Amino acid sequence: MSNITVAQCLQLAFELERVSDSARLDIEIILCHILQKNRTWLFTWPDKTLTTEQQKLFDDFLLRRKSGEPIAHIIGQREFWSLPLAVNNSTLIPRPDTELLVETTLELFANDKFDQARSCLDLGTGTGAIVLALASEKSHWQLLGVDKSADAVALAEQNRKKLNFNHVTVQQSDWFTQIVLREFDVIVSNPPYIDPQDPHLDQGDVRFEPRSALIADNHGLSDIEFIIHEGWNYLRSEGWLLLEHGYDQGEAVRELLRARGFVAVETRCDLGGNERVSLGKKLQEPT
Ligand SMILES: C[S@@+](CC[C@H](N)C(=O)[O-])C[C@H]1O[C@@H](n2cnc3c(N)ncnc32)[C@H](O)[C@@H]1O
Repeated sequence: MSNITVAQCLQLAFELERVSDSARLDIEIILCHILQKNRTWLFTWPDKTLTTEQQKLFDDFLLRRKSGEPIAHIIGQREFWSLPLAVNNSTLIPRPDTELLVETTLELFANDKFDQARSCLDLGTGTGAIVLALASEKSHWQLLGVDKSADAVALAEQNRKKLNFNHVTVQQSDWFTQIVLREFDVIVSNPPYIDPQDPHLDQGDVRFEPRSALIADNHGLSDIEFIIHEGWNYLRSEGWLLLEHGYDQGEAVRELLRARGFVAVETRCDLGGNERVSLGKKLQEPT
């Protein structure tokens, strides 16, 4: 029997409709990955046949996707800020919403001279998504990404090496425990912020992500609260703290920032119009 064609593969999208609301796109991503071609190629060459090996891989990937496994885990990659990042089950798959944290951080330093040196700390770096995105824009910054999970640190380091970003360091740390510098210009974090009782934890991609990357006590606020409290001690005067949070946590996070003494506190909304990133500036009176 002859091997399956690209067009026949694409027709199998309907098999994914039960588990995915982007079934057609999922099949295209799987095919592009297996064939090492872009999407335009798929439409230009619908009659090309897969080799036996490619077809075996396709069947395996299709089965995994049907069981609900995230597409990013299946192909081992997700794009963030146009950077192709390796992903695995040690940490969160980077989300498009998190690009708002990167954008907002860059905006705060938009008036810097192009070669201005700055220090940046990314807490809970995961794949390294945030710290590497910032590094791709700011070659004169010194950036440090930390994570409690050794496997996540290894993954972020793999991504850092592949991008050849020598101004980024990745290290293991339980929040601030291994941080020596106390004069950061900016601290950013997308910490765990989901309430452990949230029913969404049993749905979709998050079922395949580690709880350690997702949940926090006190209705999802305990890590945010800790970072706001301790973060103050690791910022220079006029330094900024930026945090991603849940759509319904904006008010609580602004309150925590103000209570710790941060000024210029505000919240930015994501593309869906949800409150997503809150920030504040440390202003210390001269003693
Ligand atoms: C929501 S994920 C964010 C990952 C990545 N920054 C991103 O935006 O895609 C949170 C990360 O925080 C890490 N984390 C959880 N508790 C931590 C702790 N006590 N200290 C450092 N990192 C922690 C998790 O391992 C996970 O990688």
